[in-house]
Amino acid sequence: MREGELHFRRLLEKLPAGAYTCDRDGLITYFNQHAVEVWGREPKLNDPVDRYCGSFKLFSTDGAAITHDRCWMARALETNRGYNRREIVIERPDGERITALAHANPIHDESGNLLGAVNVLVDITDRKRAEEALHEIREAERRRIARDLHDVVLQDLSATLQSLQAAQVESEGVGLDQEVETLRNAVQGLRNAVYDLYAEDTQSLSRTVESLLELNRQLAPGCEMTLSVDHGFPSELPDTVRPELARIVQEALANVRRHSGAHRVEVTLESDEDEIRALITDDGRGFEPDRARPGVGLTSMEERAALIGGDLEIRSELGVGTQVRFCLWRDF
Ligand SMILES: Nc1ncnc2c1ncn2[C@@H]1O[C@H](COP(=O)(O)OP(=O)(O)O)[C@@H](O)[C@H]1O
Ligand SMILES: [Mg+2]
Repeated sequence: MREGELHFRRLLEKLPAGAYTCDRDGLITYFNQHAVEVWGREPKLNDPVDRYCGSFKLFSTDGAAITHDRCWMARALETNRGYNRREIVIERPDGERITALAHANPIHDESGNLLGAVNVLVDITDRKRAEEALHEIREAERRRIARDLHDVVLQDLSATLQSLQAAQVESEGVGLDQEVETLRNAVQGLRNAVYDLYAEDTQSLSRTVESLLELNRQLAPGCEMTLSVDHGFPSELPDTVRPELARIVQEALANVRRHSGAHRVEVTLESDEDEIRALITDDGRGFEPDRARPGVGLTSMEERAALIGGDLEIRSELGVGTQVRFCLWRDF
């Protein structure tokens, strides 16, 4: 073995993560001890039985089985390019499933010929579990708040508004105009908030976004709202991704409505070979994201994006407008 290669392996040995290498044909030429822990088994070296990956079984994050010849290592060898921070679910022979981030990258010789590839597997199972638990708690809390607001506060306020209006009719419109108007606004505002908290997600993303836009048009008649969906945008998204992405769009639209004073907002769903993107662009007053009062909305958009392995970026310029950009690698 060449000295360089030995050096490389000693380096991988020291990594606090699973690491293994394959030759050009996908045969495993090396793996470290952490990889054995991640896989829950020890593959044979240079054996076609364990081509591309030493795991027992592989799944994508939405539960679909992935054959070894479609794993990140296989793709890195096939396409001669790197795949980094890609989530993958590994099932061990004892049935336990773990979630890992794969980092599969081709290795070349001095003249650029493909020699093989290295894959580094970082176990993120604990983090995923914590995120999922947090997510469930937050969703439950959200539903509880929406229910309380709707069933208690909104009912009381509406009833008060009605009796005030009745009293107004009886007293032939003497006074109380201001109070009735204020209360009517409060009821409407609260109703909007409850809608925002509820909005359910069972249809395709573009259908959901279309109804979100319709709702928001009602709430902000002065603002023109359009949706443009790329030809190649997937009509079906995994159950894990769709609701989170819908909530992100929903939060972004709520912010446009509440803070931007925009005349136009456009939601764009686009995709290319590598990623899908959702952009919410308004022509409102803009803000300075770094200096904004850290609100629940922006934080939860970021958390939702991270939960489904995506990226959220906010670009905003004072007096020009704001764009919320969500990007997700297309590997589901
Ligand atoms: N589209 C937007 N246009 C202008 N300002 C915005 C926009 N989105 C967010 N902001 C600013 O960022 C702040 C934080 O937003 P967010 O976290 O959603 O909290 P909240 O909406 O409860 O204030 C807002 O208060 C507002 O000042
Ligand atoms: Mg907000």
